[in-house]
Amino acid sequence: MTTTAEETLVLIKPDGVARNLTGQILARIEAKGYTITDLAMLVPGRDLLVQHYAEHEGKPFFEPLVEFMGSGPVVAARVQGHRVIEGFRSLAGATEPTTAAPGTIRGDLGRDWGESVQKNLVHGSDSAESASRELSLWFA
Ligand code: TYD
Ligand code: MG
Repeated sequence: MTTTAEETLVLIKPDGVARNLTGQILARIEAKGYTITDLAMLVPGRDLLVQHYAEHEGKPFFEPLVEFMGSGPVVAARVQGHRVIEGFRSLAGATEPTTAAPGTIRGDLGRDWGESVQKNLVHGSDSAESASRELSLWFA
């Protein structure tokens, strides 16, 4: 069997850090068998966030999302493992905490704040291209 280690960018968003869920979220990633190979905590600047969320520019939730993501510390992790891009998306669960499946990070730990779905604890790259682009932004 050949295994090709893949890399993804995971972000613990300001709601996750503020709720002291950093350890639990990283523990779930490690328990799944993935390896954290780089880790940083920072309050991301607007330029970084606009580039990170470039695919959503112009959508109604874009500005509130960028504002929220820059509102406090975020944890950025470079995570490695076999099929980790798809695997972490599966571990994170659907975008909306209310409908994310139990057993997932968003489904178990996410709250519906009644406003929008921006506070959904984590980000994970959605493709190999996104992962490589996002990793070079966050771990320049
Ligand atoms: P998206 O890439 O669609 O979701 P995911 O994080 O599951 O890949 O959207 C990026 C983030 O934007 C999402 O995590 C939360 C926020 N968002 C909103 O605030 N409102 C929305 O209607 C959508 C679709 C996303
Ligand atoms: Mg996305």
